[in-house]
Formats: sequence, C-alpha cells, structure tokens
Amino acid sequence: MSKSTGTLLYSAPMAGYTNYAYRELLRIFGGVDLITTEMVSARSFVELDKRGSELPSRLWGIREEPRPLAVQIWDNNSDTLSLLAQRLAFEFKVSVIDLNFGCPAKQIANRSASGAFLLRFPDRIGDLVQKVTAAAKPVPVTAKIRLGQTLDTINAIDVAQSIENAGASGLTVHGRTATEMYRGNAHWDEIAAIKPKLKSIPLIGNGDIRTVEDALFRIKNYPVDGIMIGRGSIERPWIFKQIAQALRGEPVDPEPTTAELRNLIVKHFNLLKQQFNEHTALFLIRKTVCQYTINRPCAKRFRNEICSVKEPTLFLRLIEDFFH
Ligand SMILES: Cc1cc2nc3c(=O)[nH]c(=O)nc-3n(C[C@H](O)[C@H](O)[C@H](O)COP(=O)(O)O)c2cc1C
Repeated sequence: MSKSTGTLLYSAPMAGYTNYAYRELLRIFGGVDLITTEMVSARSFVELDKRGSELPSRLWGIREEPRPLAVQIWDNNSDTLSLLAQRLAFEFKVSVIDLNFGCPAKQIANRSASGAFLLRFPDRIGDLVQKVTAAAKPVPVTAKIRLGQTLDTINAIDVAQSIENAGASGLTVHGRTATEMYRGNAHWDEIAAIKPKLKSIPLIGNGDIRTVEDALFRIKNYPVDGIMIGRGSIERPWIFKQIAQALRGEPVDPEPTTAELRNLIVKHFNLLKQQFNEHTALFLIRKTVCQYTINRPCAKRFRNEICSVKEPTLFLRLIEDFFH
C-alpha cells in the first residue's frame, strides 16, 4: 500500500466492471486504500454452495489476490448474509465485508426487496448489520447506502446511526436517492450532514468525483474521512495515484501517453482472459476502451468500430491503429 494521505481513498464496487482484472489494474497504479469487488448475491452463493457448484463468477480471484480487499454482498436475509460473511471472513480471509443497501436496480430493490429497498427500514438494516458483524467478527463489516428513497424522504442520518450502533466499522454514502438513480448531481451537503451524527466510524463520501480537482474540492470542503470513486476510475484507473500524490503535496503524474494507454488496454485484456473466455473478455474490454476515449477528439468512429468488433485480432489491430 502507498504512503498514507490522511484521507481514505476507496474504489467503488461496480457490477460488470470491478472484476479481478480491473482490481489488478488499480493495484498496479496504486494510491487506493481499499478495493471492493462487484456486489455478490448472498442467495446465489448459498444456492451454488448447496449444490457443491463453483463460486459465483464475481468471487473469482479473491482467494489469492493481494489484500486489503473488500467484498460487497447483498440480500435481505440475515442468515443468508451471515453464512456468506462467515465464509468470506474465515475461509477466504478477506479484509472487509461491505453490505449493499444502496442498489436501486429493479432486480435487487424491487424483485428481491434488497439494496436500496431496505433504506425504508433503518431498524431492519441495523439488525442485518448486527448479525453479519457478529458472524464475521473480527473481520470488519461496513455498509454502503444512498440518501434515502426519494428527495422527500431522505433518511440517511437515521440509517447511518442504525448502522453505526449495530457495530459497523465504516459507512459509505452515495449522495443520491434511490429514485434519482444516476441522474442530476450527487448531494454532498446531505452527505456532510451525516458526519456530526456519527460517533466514531469513518464516513466515506461518494458521487461524481471524476478528476483530481473534484477529489481535492470534496476533501477540502466536506467533513468526510474519505472518498470513493466509481465511474471516474473506470475512465481513469490511475486517478487514485494522482489524488494520493496531490494530497501528499508531491508532483502529480501526467496523464498516460497514447503508448501507455495502448499497453494498459492490452494488459487489461490479457488479465480479463485469465478469468473469462475470449468472447466475454472482448465484450468487457470494449466497454472500458470506450470509456478511455470518451473525451478524445475524433474518437467517435473508433468507438463505433470497437463496439462492434468480434475478433480479438481485429480488436488489437484497431487499438494499435488508434493508440499509435
Ligand atoms: C456500472 C455500475 C455498476 C455499479 N455497481 C454497484 C455495485 O455492485 N454495488 C454498489 O454498491 N454500487 C454500485 N454502483 C454504484 C457505485 O458504486 C457508485 O456509488 C456510483 O457510481 C456513484 O459514484 P461515482 O459517481 O463515483 O460513479 C454501480 C455503478 C455503476 C455505474
């Protein structure tokens, strides 16, 4: 881990992105204090386990990969969550177990009455945190929430206090409500309002940090113990290193050169192929390459080509041609 900056720098869990390959890239760049997996369904894990099947794909790599590593899990049943938490703590020896109370996706919030659905019930969240904390002890359990269901029913302070009183070791707040999904701007004032209501656990602010300047602004102006970055770190996985350098008062590394980006993409593709077949690896790397080129001039045609390419050799040729 890099030298401490005094501010916790966390990478966000992101389903479909923060797989082993991406986590490995983050480790290569450095600057992140805690890396989290994609959210894992505790119910699916328990079902697979009963059948003696393999681990869910989202847990691929966690046995061997370097620590610290947080695994994020979701469900609404304390037994199911505790069973997975216990395995993660004692068999896989992960560093942190994070509970998802923020996902607004239909499949999780509506159909499974989990994720952000549970924000309506601070006591129920407290009960889940308390049971999972007891099951995983001494491995720390943290929680990630949104501000509430809607702008009219923001209850993040109640939820945060319930989480702290239940024994959680940390709290991340994405400054939007469930119904906002990803629309509008994250409400950092609402995140800040939680801080004085917590006794001691660290508060991590999350939402819309896309640049080093954004990060420094949030850290300077809001009473958070750390920040979590999601989409900004898909676009620029080197952002944590730059933020850490800025916080330490060191010169900030320049953006990668075109050649460095090309090497990074090839490295990422090869890492993805360790876990996935070539077809899936290609699908996943295509999404990321599009993110890397989002602000590049004249990249539209390239993105269209990349999005439809089905042949790894052709993909690599397009990368060579564009990033030369
Ligand atoms: C594609 C995608 C997948 C996500 N998956 C998860 C997830 O698995 N668990 C979770 O708690 N949040 C998830 N989130 C939310 C992010 O962790 C984060 O809270 C949100 O993107 C706001 O932060 P940002 O503005 O830095 O991206 C996801 C977000 C995106 C864009």
